[in-house]
Amino acid sequence: MRTHYCGELNSTHIDQQVTVTGWVNRRRDHGGVIFVDLRDREGILQVVFDPDDAEMFANAERVRNEFVLKVTGKVRSRPEGTINKDMPTGEIEILGLQLEILNESETPPFQIDDADVHDDIRLKYRYIDLRKPEMQERMRLRAKVTHFMRSFLEGDGFLDIETPMLTRATPEGARDYLVPSRTHQGQFFALPQSPQLFKQLLMMSGMDRYYQIVRCFRDEDLRADRQPEFTQLDIETSFMNEDDIMSEMEKMMQGLFKDVLDVDVETNFLRMTYAEAMERFGSDKPDLRIDLELVTISDLLADVEFKVFSSPAKDPKGRVAALRVPGGTSLSRKQIDDYTKYVSRYGARGLAYIKCNDVAAGREGLQSPILKFLPDEAIDAILQRTGAESGDLIFFGADTEKVVNESLGALRVKVGQDLNLVAEGWSFLWVVDFPMFDHVAEDNSWTALHHPFTAPNTEDPAELEANPGGMLSRAYDMILNGVELGGGSIRIHKVDMQQKVLTLLGIDSQEAEDKFGFLLNALKFGCPPHGGIAFGLDRLIMLMTSTNSIRDVMAFPKTQTAACLLTSAPSEVSERQLKDLSIRLRKPVIEE
Ligand code: AMO
Ligand code: AMP
Repeated sequence: MRTHYCGELNSTHIDQQVTVTGWVNRRRDHGGVIFVDLRDREGILQVVFDPDDAEMFANAERVRNEFVLKVTGKVRSRPEGTINKDMPTGEIEILGLQLEILNESETPPFQIDDADVHDDIRLKYRYIDLRKPEMQERMRLRAKVTHFMRSFLEGDGFLDIETPMLTRATPEGARDYLVPSRTHQGQFFALPQSPQLFKQLLMMSGMDRYYQIVRCFRDEDLRADRQPEFTQLDIETSFMNEDDIMSEMEKMMQGLFKDVLDVDVETNFLRMTYAEAMERFGSDKPDLRIDLELVTISDLLADVEFKVFSSPAKDPKGRVAALRVPGGTSLSRKQIDDYTKYVSRYGARGLAYIKCNDVAAGREGLQSPILKFLPDEAIDAILQRTGAESGDLIFFGADTEKVVNESLGALRVKVGQDLNLVAEGWSFLWVVDFPMFDHVAEDNSWTALHHPFTAPNTEDPAELEANPGGMLSRAYDMILNGVELGGGSIRIHKVDMQQKVLTLLGIDSQEAEDKFGFLLNALKFGCPPHGGIAFGLDRLIMLMTSTNSIRDVMAFPKTQTAACLLTSAPSEVSERQLKDLSIRLRKPVIEE
């Protein structure tokens, strides 16, 4: 229907007759001349209708926003003084010769260029929202990314293999989405939280290198970087160790950033142990663009009288840490109160601080509600260890290690953002040497930090059993700018080790047989050493497009409460469908 996209035309096309199609972005009447900004995927073009052709002009007068037009016209340069430098097509316009209204539009619920539309309205009319140039740009970048990934991986011998959506529960730690079976009444499929077990089985099948761009489903509390269904770039390989896998993935990221953003990324990403990341940044996904660090000061405070500090300082599970904020004396009382409220979300019971107005002046030069509780030696030692200078503020966290890490870790990022301390650039790193298990104090049990198929850092099940709490795993996470982009591990490939890990996780042999019997069996028939990784594709695109939410980079995302406002899903279903599935909804219970 067209000869060119609107956004494609420029001064090299002057004097050519062209046909374009698109949506009316805006129509303006200028005393006898009508201007229409016509929009398509590639951009916006100014079309001018002169009154000479009365029929065409009358049609142009009828045109409203979001009408769909086909216009044939002549490209000409805009008159001096009307050139729009902000528009790629701003040097030209087309003089309309023929106008066909392909379709009309009711008044849209919002203007395409209105930046202030409520999220719910955007989602309800997502097809209109997606007409926005920035939304189009994001979808296009997303397509470029997946195109690059496919060609890179296929070039390196990876096979794209699909795995089932109707399957059994896969333990990635979230709640499952269940699908009732009609043919097996009372039984349910689970939608995959990831293809983890299938990709491992593919290694046992000798596929050697697998990848899939695959939808995963997790019924969990949603946040800006979490959706109930999201996409992974999922990868599994045989006969590669963690170094091989990590360097292959670095090569992919390097190629991807060059290809899509023309950004140079160095390979050999920094590797940091989990222990170091927690100690220095209070997080297993540190944003290294922010030059602020936590410093442990427990040993300096074990004997002070101030119980808030001394009890966690003495507790082996406690931690007292300081966070020095350069130039932080400028923070107001109100800002500090707001930060105190902020850390309380993470369980912190307070946020002590010292303002270092003049470090040379000793106690006199400091300002703090806790000064009176601390002896000179402790204060001096804190100043020394944190490297505090005049003008700095020191925040303190004193609690269990978990609360201190979470609260000061989050505060570090918040303060970094608020005070513009986030450096430009792309900060990739690997976090490695995760503990194999997390201890659950309530029932004295273990949970897997990654997932139950991750190999421990030993080949010997007895060694694992002797010290589950101290054992590290062979897992690795790729972090970009403080976001967990992907995670993976070398897997357990021997059945006795797999059984041992399941046992340690409190899964007895009957339950293991029920849930993972197929995997345990497969491990007995020649399973190669293998490992892999999965990236959150939506998170990657979110970072690459500098947006704040993965919703912005998904065509049809769900709300915070996991609903689709466009289609009104989930929805009620008919009695008949429920009957087919033998599902009875809970009505007022009538005792028989
Ligand atoms: P994991 O559970 O760490 O590992 O998931 C891999 C990556 O997927 C992304 N991600 C999400 N993105 C959006 N919304 C969500 N709800 C969501 N949950 C996770 C994250 C995360 O790093 N099978 C293993 C991988 C493996 O071991 O190979 C797995 O799924 O970016
Ligand atoms: P309090 O004596 O409880 O009023 O606390 C004195 C100061 O210590 C206040 O500034 C509190 O915000 C701070 N504070 C209290 N508990 C903690 C804690 N667990 N970690 C860090 N600071 C705390």
